[in-house]
Amino acid sequence: MLAIDAREVEKTFRGGWMRRRQTPALRGVSLQVEPGAIVGLLGPNGAGKTTLLSILATLLLPDRGDVKVLGVDVCRNPTAVRRRINMASGNASFLWSLRPPEILAFYGRLYGVSGRDLRRRVDELIGTFELEAHRRTPYNELSTGLKQRLALAKSLLNDPALLFLDEPTLGLDPDVSVRIRRVIAELRRTRGMTIVLTTHYMREAEDLCDEIAFIKGGRILARGTADALKRQIRIGDIIAVRTDPPVPAMLADAQGVLRCVASDGWVECTVDAAEKRLPELLRTLHMEGVVVRGIEVREPDLEDVFVELAR
Ligand SMILES: Nc1ncnc2c1ncn2[C@@H]1O[C@H](COP(=O)(O)OP(=O)(O)O)[C@@H](O)[C@H]1O
Ligand SMILES: [Mg+2]
Repeated sequence: MLAIDAREVEKTFRGGWMRRRQTPALRGVSLQVEPGAIVGLLGPNGAGKTTLLSILATLLLPDRGDVKVLGVDVCRNPTAVRRRINMASGNASFLWSLRPPEILAFYGRLYGVSGRDLRRRVDELIGTFELEAHRRTPYNELSTGLKQRLALAKSLLNDPALLFLDEPTLGLDPDVSVRIRRVIAELRRTRGMTIVLTTHYMREAEDLCDEIAFIKGGRILARGTADALKRQIRIGDIIAVRTDPPVPAMLADAQGVLRCVASDGWVECTVDAAEKRLPELLRTLHMEGVVVRGIEVREPDLEDVFVELAR
């Protein structure tokens, strides 16, 4: 059984006078997720990522489409779904004056845990998420990284089979992000949890996710492993050169150069095949008396792929 089976999901937000202003957020999104997978929804702001997660997590109703989560229809039986999922948002906000154990205990009670069980559960999560030193710190005095860790801890209170994470590393320093990512990878490894997360950091998606769905304008434009996406969207190789003087126009006009972007004194040329074009480019530059200060050849990374997709 699929952990998620969503088909042709549509959602339009209505607002303003007589609810006449319409914002289409999802325009026919289908998503299938195998149990135990970590899937990343990657896309720019406003792409529809949070809307999709909210529908999967039974917080919003779709206008159209079929959505089954853990085999249960989210529209017909949201309560059964809720017991077995949880969600944490990078934008989460808890009551400012409560301390981490109180926040966790509050949510634990909502899931029907109480007494000694609840205390044990809370202590365990405080330990796992290294919140021990902050037991007595009110929520509003926690750093962003600690808030994020607390949100993650909260999302595990009901031991979900499926976890939704909305921008789990939003606004975090790189080193803190790395730790959060490690925790997420651990959750899957140790508990076999299925995880669907949204992010707009390519690196995060590439590091963490078995599969990536690129979403933009309410549609999934491409989906697959990071490697498959790179292969699928064959955009050639990249030759970056730093020359004296800078000659972006000359490079752009050279044979086999598909695209040229200048930045920071470097010119990045996308070419059909680097092994063929590199000698030609160097010969041209040499003949024109241009001095080459630096050169780099690389395969396109995920970011290049998505720049291409988003065009
Ligand atoms: N509650 C809402 N009311 C009206 N419009 C909304 C609401 N939530 C989201 N939208 C709009 O729906 C689109 C998708 O938003 P969202 O799912 O939040 O994107 P993302 O999470 O990818 O940034 C955007 O155009 C956004 O402005
Ligand atoms: Mg969002």
